[in-house]
Amino acid sequence: MHSKSTKISFATIIFIVLKQKTKMALLIVGHPELDKSIANNAIIEEVKKHDLDIEIRYLHQLYPDYKIDINAEQAALLRHETIIFQYPFYWYNAPAILKLWFDEVFTYQFAYGSKGYKLKGKNFLLSFTVGAPQQEYQALGEHHFGIPEFCKNFEQTAYYAQMNYMAPIYSFGTSTAAGYKESEIRDKAKAHAKILVSALLNLK
Ligand SMILES: Cc1cc2nc3c(=O)[nH]c(=O)nc-3n(C[C@H](O)[C@H](O)[C@H](O)COP(=O)(O)O)c2cc1C
Repeated sequence: MHSKSTKISFATIIFIVLKQKTKMALLIVGHPELDKSIANNAIIEEVKKHDLDIEIRYLHQLYPDYKIDINAEQAALLRHETIIFQYPFYWYNAPAILKLWFDEVFTYQFAYGSKGYKLKGKNFLLSFTVGAPQQEYQALGEHHFGIPEFCKNFEQTAYYAQMNYMAPIYSFGTSTAAGYKESEIRDKAKAHAKILVSALLNLK
């Protein structure tokens, strides 16, 4: 009786150790000009300062020719419970490489289908930077719609794959072309990273 209970607790310890060894989150970076980036770079650098177990995949470094290694990407997704997409808002959407990534990686019998739904239950978190100011993202503003409306395609993609769509994290006023100062953008990026880190730490 006694030895049985010892065996169970030993198995539990092994389980806990293995669980701690699994990666906490996957950060997929979709930025075609990361070398010129202020906001996204600052967010990533800030997140890296925290003691989180995060795997970062820079799509443009991995695939400068846009030839995505589908098996490698799917394997990376399977290693994690939380998938974060980090990118600058381009034409009310994500940059092209991230759209391509979804088209090629969220395949039939992987993301959906009778033998699919391999990402079921995983967290899906958008984290992005918006060039223009918040007041322009409303009915009477220059961009007419609120940011959550522009995220609907991602939201439904997550639902379709039976993933857990988390509240997106985004920061406005991050474009130097729109007149924002670099120091101001860096402050916003720091605040953004803080929210992102706390969302990750609050995951069950
Ligand atoms: C091709 C392109 C398209 C953009 N489209 C938008 C847009 O639709 N709405 C917006 O508010 N800002 C837009 N911007 C501004 C970027 O969102 C902004 O510069 C970026 O988020 C700042 O992040 P970074 O410093 O990491 O590049 C666009 C910028 C580029 C280069």
